[in-house]
Amino acid sequence: MKPIGPLMREHRLIERMIRVMERRIALTEPDPAFLTAAVDFMKTFVDQIHHGKEEDILFRDLKTKTLSAEHRRILGELVEEHIAGRNLVKRLDQARTELIPGDAVSREQLAGIVAEIAVFYNNHIDKEDNRFFYPCLDYFSPVEQEKMLRDYAEYEGRVLQDRYLNIVESLEAGTR
Ligand SMILES: [Fe+2]
Ligand SMILES: [Fe+2]
Repeated sequence: MKPIGPLMREHRLIERMIRVMERRIALTEPDPAFLTAAVDFMKTFVDQIHHGKEEDILFRDLKTKTLSAEHRRILGELVEEHIAGRNLVKRLDQARTELIPGDAVSREQLAGIVAEIAVFYNNHIDKEDNRFFYPCLDYFSPVEQEKMLRDYAEYEGRVLQDRYLNIVESLEAGTR
């Protein structure tokens, strides 16, 4: 497997989740448990696991290479976009905590943020999948690509260990 394979597979899951978010928020009164799950997905899976693998492994390794001007520019844009994505999720989380049951205004606000997230990730994923990932492979030898795949697995394991350690600690402390 190429090291862009897992990232592209994760893109498909992100797209599916965003479609569910759009549907659930457009059709029904927002369900707090669903919103909690959606924010957790965006924070843990999208930001920590997916963006983490991109930034801390793929992008980190690309920065050791002599990139073309175009690839250097796109790399800079992608890092900026991750920051913008994080801010959108912060707004979603905020709107979730401020949601007033039955209130059309707060529901519309939530739907507006989800619509922004959908447009944002559509563009971001398109840029990575169609203009960046494949040409990036040319900068790496097969051995380097193998190492990247091992780094992903280790990274993902660490994120999940930390996540559940935090959950247990906050349950022990009675803060969750
Ligand atoms: Fe990305
Ligand atoms: Fe991505």
